[in-house]
Amino acid sequence: MLVTGAASGIGAATALLAAERGVSLLLLDRDSERLAAVAEAARHAGAGPVFSASMDVTDAEQLETGVQAGCESVGVPTAAVCCAGVDRGGSTHLATDADFDFVVDINLRGTFMTCRSFARRLIDESLTGSAVCISSIAASVGLPAGTAAYSASKGGVSAMVRSLAVEYGASGIRFNAIAPGATETPLMWANVADADRAEVRRRVCDVVPLGRLAQPRELAYAALWLLSAEAAYVTGSELVVDGGILATSVLPA
Ligand code: NAI
Repeated sequence: MLVTGAASGIGAATALLAAERGVSLLLLDRDSERLAAVAEAARHAGAGPVFSASMDVTDAEQLETGVQAGCESVGVPTAAVCCAGVDRGGSTHLATDADFDFVVDINLRGTFMTCRSFARRLIDESLTGSAVCISSIAASVGLPAGTAAYSASKGGVSAMVRSLAVEYGASGIRFNAIAPGATETPLMWANVADADRAEVRRRVCDVVPLGRLAQPRELAYAALWLLSAEAAYVTGSELVVDGGILATSVLPA
């Protein structure tokens, strides 16, 4: 299984859950130190062969080199989970072009290039397979925290997944998205000052019908289900894993 963003959060949780199920892993992330720790933990958890490489998903050459070396080491992956992503808060009227490009480049172009690389290998080897791209509820609703570029990138991911599902259905390659809500990872807190964390957590939990943040492993369960034979007829879909946020009406009782 190919996992990008495997060094942290949802990607790391997905890699470790797959490891517990004996899956062989091709782990990619730009954070080499944390990636090496996750790869080591995956080996201990019972994974098949594990390959990990530090690279940037926005750099086509680095990505291709990493995927190729991984294929040679652990075999061509027939499953992929695209988790590499960033958020950069701040009001839109203060954002620079570089702020926009940074977020969209990693979240959308990086996910596109990973899916392309994955599909290429499967087509070349006449294999079938399945990919899950981590989108966000931000693809479907507006958020107050200056997330215009982030929301645009995730809307792009969700649209791209539907398109890929149609394009590659006849080749037996499934593409699905997951839309997480607020999930307990470093990204969740990236733009929140330490002193504000407790207050932000309280405010977020107040609007989540289940009353809490998601744990990364809860997203990993959803990803592995979408990749499994149990989801063999599911493609082009978006699985919302948000504790009920999208189901909430803002109308007062
Ligand atoms: P995280 O910050 O824990 O993990 C993201 C990983 O992506 C990190 O290990 C980071 O090094 C890696 N990464 C970032 N840019 C990269 C690049 N250019 N090349 C290679 N690796 C790169 O964050 P989390 O929450 O696990 O995020 C995973 C996905 O879930 C992201 O796409 C994020 O947008 C999405 N998501 C997260 C939510 C949350 O509340 N945590 C909510 C909705 C979606």
